[in-house]
Amino acid sequence: MNMQKIEVREGNFNLQDYQKAYQQFDWEEAKQAFSWSETGKVNIAYEAIDRHAENPDKADQTALLFTSPDREERITFTDLKQSSNQFANVLKDKGIEKGDRVFLFMPRSPEFYAAFFGILKVGAIAGPLFEAFMEQAVRDRLEDSEATMLVTTPELLERVPYKELPQLKQIVLVGDADVQEEGFIHFHNEMTQASQSFDLEWVDLEDGMLLHYTSGSTGKPKGVYHVHNAMLQHYQTSKWVLDLQQDDVYWCTADPGWVTGTSYGIFGPWLNGVTNVIVGGRFSPENWYKALQDYGVTVWYSAPTAFRKLMSAGEEAVEPFDISKLRHIASVGEPLNPEVIAWGLDAFKLRIHDTWWMTETGAQLICNYPAMEMKPGSMGKPFPGIVASIIDNEGNELPPNQMGNLAIKSPWPSMMRAIWNRPEKFESYFLNGWYISGDSAYYDEEGYFWFQGRLDDVINTSGERVGPFEVESKLIEHAAVAEAGVIGKPDPERGEIIKAFITLNEGYEESEELLEDIRQFVKKGLSAHAAPRELEVKDKIPKTRSGKIMRRLLKSWELGLPTGDVSTLEE
Ligand code: WT7
Repeated sequence: MNMQKIEVREGNFNLQDYQKAYQQFDWEEAKQAFSWSETGKVNIAYEAIDRHAENPDKADQTALLFTSPDREERITFTDLKQSSNQFANVLKDKGIEKGDRVFLFMPRSPEFYAAFFGILKVGAIAGPLFEAFMEQAVRDRLEDSEATMLVTTPELLERVPYKELPQLKQIVLVGDADVQEEGFIHFHNEMTQASQSFDLEWVDLEDGMLLHYTSGSTGKPKGVYHVHNAMLQHYQTSKWVLDLQQDDVYWCTADPGWVTGTSYGIFGPWLNGVTNVIVGGRFSPENWYKALQDYGVTVWYSAPTAFRKLMSAGEEAVEPFDISKLRHIASVGEPLNPEVIAWGLDAFKLRIHDTWWMTETGAQLICNYPAMEMKPGSMGKPFPGIVASIIDNEGNELPPNQMGNLAIKSPWPSMMRAIWNRPEKFESYFLNGWYISGDSAYYDEEGYFWFQGRLDDVINTSGERVGPFEVESKLIEHAAVAEAGVIGKPDPERGEIIKAFITLNEGYEESEELLEDIRQFVKKGLSAHAAPRELEVKDKIPKTRSGKIMRRLLKSWELGLPTGDVSTLEE
């Protein structure tokens, strides 16, 4: 593949001499962009929204360009300041205070962003939940976070077991609903009565602002806790990696239920004061190309799964559209295949820049920059101010070209500050001052990092992170299922698909209907993306003598690989 076809280009960040930039940059520099470096008053909502609304050059600029099948709206920084002030007043009126957890469970809409920033403005902690979650997934997160308020829609309310969540005192309904029960609040009624002015709650840089739940290989989803200080990195990476410039029209395709959708679907663009496109509704190549064309998107941040779907729709899908305004494309979430980069060069005449990071890291850490030579298949190089390395299991750094744990020197501005209510889980991420990512990788002599795989059993399906334990737990709740072991099976389009091995309880016979029923059970209980695409009935699930499911062995069987060390296998 001839990558030199597309020239490297200088943007905000002239990285021709990466080493120099890497050695000179200091996070102190990033602080200069924020008013709190002078006033000492901090709130990420102020820096992302109000600051621009107070600037005559920016006040009437479109902040949010929202489109969904039934709605299209342009919302200025002033509008967004006012609507979030209104919601902050509603929250204050309902007794919400600094540090309280207020969750959001609703599709993307202008109301979502007003509510989100209203929550931050009172100093509360926002917990956005992916709209496709079903009852169990919603319950686990509300229970663990002890959220006292939820903002949702009448349609999604049926998946919220609020009667069984005693700490959840109030539910704000966005949309028409005739609910007279105590604790229910009508968003639109309250908003029309609320003032558009609000005295923002100034907080500390280390105060909490966001909880994102994510999965590991064991246990229930964990609440990854982020603080206002993350804005330093949201801002600086969006500037240098996404190359955001004042007149850009930027589109991040991720839902705010996932960290990409908050760090780069909300904070990154607005901290940089650019117009942010939000596309609701379902994915289709036509809808996406049309959005790129109609809004004149200049910078686009998406995921390999989406690029692969567009790729398989063929060049004829993109041809009818004029997407010539597009200047820069970046990708995150899974390995970005060199074939996809090659396709991007043909389809868009642009490079797709891979970026690597995680829910826990809060922002991009290892990236390809507009002005850097790319090696297709590599995640790129550490962001200035970030020290990345490969370490062995004892915490020693390894030389180039040796595979090991991808690790980051702790801390950095956007790093999680806690796992909610689970200090021991938080501690388990760190070794010798390094944050251990759980990914295996190596770096080459030129300092490019190359992703190899996960070191744990976490599954990455279509860029979404799924914990096998959650799926196994749900599977064995089904009357027919005795035991379950769940793995990620490689898939050309989705990266991995979820495959479950199960044993059946006595009295149940394997049949197509039964397997479909089990699949639906997981889908309706957890969410569609967590439902196994493949189910295989076994006589036994391999376990260690201490009763742990040996997913690694299941995976070796599935892939026809050598089974390795099985000395801990039970009789
Ligand atoms: C895991 C984190 C924060 C972004 C969205 C995913 C995988 C992420 C890449 C990449 C290969 C990647 C890793 C990581 N991953 N980016 N560029 N190349 N793998 O966040 O849900 O917390 O998942 O996604 O395995 O550990 P997440």
